[in-house]
Amino acid sequence: MDVGRQHSGVAFEQTFMNFLLQHQERHNRTHDFLILMDALISAAQHIQRYYLTGALKGNLGLAGAVNVQGEDVMQMDQIANEITIHYLKASGRVIHAVSEESDEIIPINPEGGRYFVYFDPLDGSSNVSHGLPVGFLFGVARRNLTGPEDGHLRAGKDYIAAGMFVIPTGTFTIGLKDEGTWRFHVDETNTFVRPTRMTLPEDPKGWELSFNASNRRTYAEKVQKWIGENEGKYAFRYLGALAGDFHRTLTNGGMFMYPAIVNHPNPKKNRPEGKLRLMYEAAVVAFICHEAGGAAVDERGVPILEIVPEHHHQRSALYVGSKKLVEDLARSLQQQG
Ligand code: AHG
Ligand code: MN
Ligand code: MN
Repeated sequence: MDVGRQHSGVAFEQTFMNFLLQHQERHNRTHDFLILMDALISAAQHIQRYYLTGALKGNLGLAGAVNVQGEDVMQMDQIANEITIHYLKASGRVIHAVSEESDEIIPINPEGGRYFVYFDPLDGSSNVSHGLPVGFLFGVARRNLTGPEDGHLRAGKDYIAAGMFVIPTGTFTIGLKDEGTWRFHVDETNTFVRPTRMTLPEDPKGWELSFNASNRRTYAEKVQKWIGENEGKYAFRYLGALAGDFHRTLTNGGMFMYPAIVNHPNPKKNRPEGKLRLMYEAAVVAFICHEAGGAAVDERGVPILEIVPEHHHQRSALYVGSKKLVEDLARSLQQQG
């Protein structure tokens, strides 16, 4: 039976796992990736359940606080981290993981694993105490199965998949290497339904710019100049959570940016490397965007997907979105001075 087709007015939907199973079979691939994805989706859904009830239970506060039951409150991102590590271990498919919430590389299943996973278990912490959207972000690279062991420091172009789950809407977007970007919404039973292929819109009419406007005077002169010359053409939106902001960029087109901070009045607050982390934030959205026909560069105008990390918590400036816009900005960045 064709999934997704209307029969007598009844829409037959397709779960994420069913979509992925067909994908793997079409390409004659193993089921290992399916098992890994099941673990990642289970983690995201579990974190979302925790988040939805968190305000009532007093768990959306700061670490060190005490909740209504008199128990110590764990910061939501620490809880999310533990949940994710639990599911990754249970999958038996992961060698090492890199998490925003763990200083060190996390050995998950160093003997038998097949994948490296890079994740931010809860992205957009400033939204947590408000119960507003946050994200679960991940990238996946495959172990070198034929050659010598090559470690986990992979450029985004070597990822085989990257995904983002917007909590608490449950909307899930995944980029699959050379297979496009797909979005899944949930129905009232919390099951992922029919995949929608995502392609960034060509028409600039609905494009939006997204950046922290209060930082703009701290950006490099050429970035400020570009913003001054271009901002009037587009709408402006900023939620303060990459997953939510980039979700909009992907749908409407335009550009999300988190430039380097180089002109802060207090030089100690400069962030010449940018704020976002390369492996589990910038490269994740860059990968998803690339598979949807978009582009992403860093402060030098170098494609994010080309950057080989030297450290697992490395930061990067990020300009991600519609190809023409990102390329235009990259030309400004590449100019001397
Ligand atoms: P995290 O909460 O995981 O530390 O990351 C927050 C990130 C990202 O989600 C968002 O785009 C950005 O920080 C917002 O930063 P500002 O508050 O500086 O705008
Ligand atoms: Mn984050
Ligand atoms: Mn985080």
